Amino acid sequence: MNSLPTIHFYDLHPSFANIKEEVLSGLSAQPKAIPPKFFYDEYGSQLFDQITELEEYYPTRTEIAILKEHGDEMVDLLGNDALLIELGSGSSKKIRVLLDALKPAAYMPIDISKAHLLKSAQTLFNDYPHLDIHATCADYSDHFHLPYNPENVPKAAFFPGSSIGNFEPNQAQALLTRVAEFLGSNSTLLIGVDMKKCSQRLNSAYNDAKGVTAAFNLNLLTRINQELEANFEISHFKHHAFYNEKLGRIEMHLMSCIPHEVQIDGQIFSFEKNESIHTESSYKYAIDEFQTLAQTAGFEPIRVWTDKEKLFSVHCLQVR
Ligand code: AVJ
Repeated sequence: MNSLPTIHFYDLHPSFANIKEEVLSGLSAQPKAIPPKFFYDEYGSQLFDQITELEEYYPTRTEIAILKEHGDEMVDLLGNDALLIELGSGSSKKIRVLLDALKPAAYMPIDISKAHLLKSAQTLFNDYPHLDIHATCADYSDHFHLPYNPENVPKAAFFPGSSIGNFEPNQAQALLTRVAEFLGSNSTLLIGVDMKKCSQRLNSAYNDAKGVTAAFNLNLLTRINQELEANFEISHFKHHAFYNEKLGRIEMHLMSCIPHEVQIDGQIFSFEKNESIHTESSYKYAIDEFQTLAQTAGFEPIRVWTDKEKLFSVHCLQVR
């Protein structure tokens, strides 16, 4: 690199074009559903950060503990001098655990939330002034090109937080296949995956006593009111989250307490009492289940680390 490290910013305008179309088609479907990526407006991203600090929400602190305990080994597997791409970088906190030992050629955080991405990139750069940062605002669940892709620089990827669990298994496979393609042969992916466990532990992680997860879920309707011409009455809905053991996933819903109608962009949507909008699935994987999924997407499992209680796993995968 012959120029000084700095923050570059690329806006691929993610939700911009999609929110109206995806919300209208999701609410026209039966059962009604809205993709979880729309949780992350500025306030939603703040609420998510609060979730990660909750007593009941074990994934974030467990994943960070695994990264801290095995970071040296992970850094060896990721390798120095690569373009380090992070999918769903959020606050860019977890990457710090690796950056203290890893020296990438550049860091490319990708996130759908523009304000959050910019703030986090700036904070990270203040603490790591030798790091060249290529902050990219994009929806990684959709097809997109890498806006910065220097030749002859190997790539490595970090995909923490078990966000892969928010995809249906066939979509997760498609997404991982695309990641394998843009990374290229022999590249390494480090990915966090929440594990199957007793339903009580899972249910309380998505039904916290302070109601932060409920506020996070309901904020989706506030956002739709603000960004689309919509008149959701927030108090007519309640947060409903439960572990669906048969499908191995947490489901979050917004359930209508009464029969009523909502108008969005001139269209009317009717809700029956107890009818819900499915807002998120969060799939949980046993180690071998996830390895099998990764293999079908063109990756070879290299290593996996977990905590003592086997709550969470971090997988190292290599593109075949
Ligand atoms: C980190 C996005 C995967 O599914 O656990 C937290 C999001 N939803 N509480 C998860 C979330 C409700 C979270 N992800």
